[in-house]
Amino acid sequence: MKITKAVIPAAGLGTRVLPATKAMPKEMLPIVDKPSIQYIVEEAVKSGITDILIITNRGKGIIEDHFDRTPILEDALLNGNKTELYKSIENIHKLANISYIRQIETKGLGHAVSRAKNFVGNEPFVVMYGDDVIIGDTPATKELIDAYEEYGKGVLGVKSVPENEIHKYGSLKVEHLRDNIYNCTDMVEKPQTKEEVMSLFAVLGRCILPPEIFDILENTTPGAGGEIQLTDAMRELATTVGMTAVEYSGTRYDMGNKLGILKASIDVGLEHDEVKDGLREYIKEIAKTL
Ligand code: UTP
Repeated sequence: MKITKAVIPAAGLGTRVLPATKAMPKEMLPIVDKPSIQYIVEEAVKSGITDILIITNRGKGIIEDHFDRTPILEDALLNGNKTELYKSIENIHKLANISYIRQIETKGLGHAVSRAKNFVGNEPFVVMYGDDVIIGDTPATKELIDAYEEYGKGVLGVKSVPENEIHKYGSLKVEHLRDNIYNCTDMVEKPQTKEEVMSLFAVLGRCILPPEIFDILENTTPGAGGEIQLTDAMRELATTVGMTAVEYSGTRYDMGNKLGILKASIDVGLEHDEVKDGLREYIKEIAKTL
């Protein structure tokens, strides 16, 4: 079955980026000139996704405004002959069919995804974590969809993380299949001891899930941090029918983390036509003083 639906959980509290996220959703933090959630929606569209559900909560209304039309601004840019600026916003509301649902209670990523049950229906779907921007030549979601079409199982987008950081992520038990593709048979969320670590492969930012995940989530009790963990529900899939893990080719930026935000701004800025020359000069200059 062709995958056309994506769910973007964006209802987290973003406490690691306070005070910036006190009133501003972290998903709206810009990388140079675009909010991070727009990069994610564009990745979805480039991967063949047509319908997107964004999971929000109180205070995240500006995400909806961003993907809406802005007639006053559009008229002002057109009347002022600011054609380039007009072009930069004219298609944002046409990117995809985007709908929204509120999570109401912030009970974890698994709980957020369970809100998507009616939207998803009986189809496999992509989950794109709202604070993980992935930049690369091939969209990460497309790489996962290709693996779904080949192997027919749920797919995990993974990257290897440093040993001293794996305790912050979900660690996977994997067997190599070919190239960047693995079979995943087990996983653990936030392993606390060395013995619990299954590998340094962590689920980072993207996965494809079959609709069976919703029944599993209904029976998933709170895990690490007292939250309903998506990893705990995916573990049931991995240990029964198995899942496929894909080490995607792009670079992932954690926009829920201060250093991740800075790295994204520098990397994207160095490729951005308008600012790249000035930024390169500036970095060279300050590097001399470091
Ligand atoms: P995180 O755990 O990184 O988000 O969840 P958080 O809770 O906002 O982070 P901190 O620790 O407080 O800084 C990964 C993704 O899942 C969403 C977040 O918005 C983020 O995109 N999420 C998390 C929800 O939608 N609902 C939740 O209850 C938790």
